[in-house]
Amino acid sequence: METAAPSEPTGRFETDNSVTQKQKPRQQLSKAMEHMRFAVTVDPIPRSSNSIPPTSTSIPPTSTSTPTPNTENENDAYGVPASYAPVRNAPSRSHDPSNNQKRTDPFAFGSRFLEEGDDIFEFNAWDHVSVDSSYLTFSEEQFAKQRADPVSDFDRKRFNENPEKWWNKFYANNKSNFFKNRKWLAQEFPVLEDIRKEGKGAVKVLEVGAGAGNSAFPILKDNKNEGLKIHACDFSKKAVEVIRSNEEYDKRYIQADVWDVAASPDGENGGLPPGVEEESVDVVLMIFIFSALNPKQWEQAVKNIWRVLKPGGQVLFRDYGRGDLAQVRFKKGRWMEENFYVRGDGTRVYFFEQQELEQIWGGKGKETKEDDESKEVAEQVEGLVLHENTKEGQEKDIKSALGDVVAPSPAFEIAHFGVDRRMLVNRQRRLKMYRCWMQAVFRKPGSASDVPTSTLRQDKAADDEAAQAES
Ligand SMILES: C[S@@+](CC[C@H](N)C(=O)[O-])C[C@H]1O[C@@H](n2cnc3c(N)ncnc32)[C@H](O)[C@@H]1O
Repeated sequence: METAAPSEPTGRFETDNSVTQKQKPRQQLSKAMEHMRFAVTVDPIPRSSNSIPPTSTSIPPTSTSTPTPNTENENDAYGVPASYAPVRNAPSRSHDPSNNQKRTDPFAFGSRFLEEGDDIFEFNAWDHVSVDSSYLTFSEEQFAKQRADPVSDFDRKRFNENPEKWWNKFYANNKSNFFKNRKWLAQEFPVLEDIRKEGKGAVKVLEVGAGAGNSAFPILKDNKNEGLKIHACDFSKKAVEVIRSNEEYDKRYIQADVWDVAASPDGENGGLPPGVEEESVDVVLMIFIFSALNPKQWEQAVKNIWRVLKPGGQVLFRDYGRGDLAQVRFKKGRWMEENFYVRGDGTRVYFFEQQELEQIWGGKGKETKEDDESKEVAEQVEGLVLHENTKEGQEKDIKSALGDVVAPSPAFEIAHFGVDRRMLVNRQRRLKMYRCWMQAVFRKPGSASDVPTSTLRQDKAADDEAAQAES
């Protein structure tokens, strides 16, 4: 039998990197969860880096500042050859690798840079780590293989028809203690610290795709603001049950309800979440939910968020970035469309590019779609037959012909955007895992919300550094 699993990122969606040093017993997973073993435990059969060389077309790995590393004692991480090496920074003058003080207590993200001479396996995670272009080539080769072997039509249909069904199954199989609390969230979005301070007054937060409440409960944990209220919504009724059954569920500060963020305005409550009115929310929290939507739903979701937010309100957003290990490691039969996959448990996941997110939230939509739409509008206008020869009638005709197509897309301000690249390390198995997450603050123009627009941890760190350099 295998010995206890080493420290490993245990969050279901691998977003919590405050990796514990404690040894954990090997987890027993249900059959339905077996495909997620990589996310919750270690690979039972790690392959040696010597066993599979990088594909023949790959450029041999290089680093800008270090020679090819000796990876003899390392293992391939979920199909990624160990020979791919992270790019290292030049050593800072004050840094002595034999006395590595890159530890902080409590753990703080964004401060641990990999430098020449550092032992990768000394820590569980490194910040701002990228891999050279050979890894990029390797990733593209993986994507080409995924495309060549897409999901079957049968699966594509059943996984897109009732997506909540698959999330319900997921939450029925896994209770709240399966998930890891996102205690680090207030580090990433400092405004979350601010709104729970005593006397801050009424602040309404809407969490979209709240899951088991792993973001909402940590926010409320040290809350001293009597006026803080979180509406935690998810389209999975099982997820909502999990939140409501949490012993910390206190109706004064949190209300969990079923809501589909892509709901049509013709639906219940005009498509808005139960108990939430138009332009009433200060902060919308979206943590690994946008990626769960079909790209066709993005537009409606953004419209709904826009409607609930006060002018001056903000969206705190974190999700998967293109090239993340979770994408690179997908095997055959999972690809649905570019960057969009179905996992083994039927849940869907998309991997975003920065520019794409800026377009979607900044009101420009998807380029191709927008092009199609303007073409369609032009055709409709051209073929327009007026049924009444009055000004009113003409307006009516034009409106009905154009429908929603010309309704202006909500245009959020991109207040902050950060690409969070990190290398997670399994020290016992000697695996390196390259992760990539997108993090942003989108702001609805206006000034009705009193909550200041959040910074991002990444930006704050850069500002602090600049201020220090100046002083
Ligand atoms: C990856 S989980 C993230 C959960 C939670 N935000 C967290 O960080 O722990 C995605 C969640 O989004 C929910 N979800 C997916 N599509 C949704 C939709 N259209 N409307 C509302 N929630 C949705 C799922 O049920 C699931 O709970």
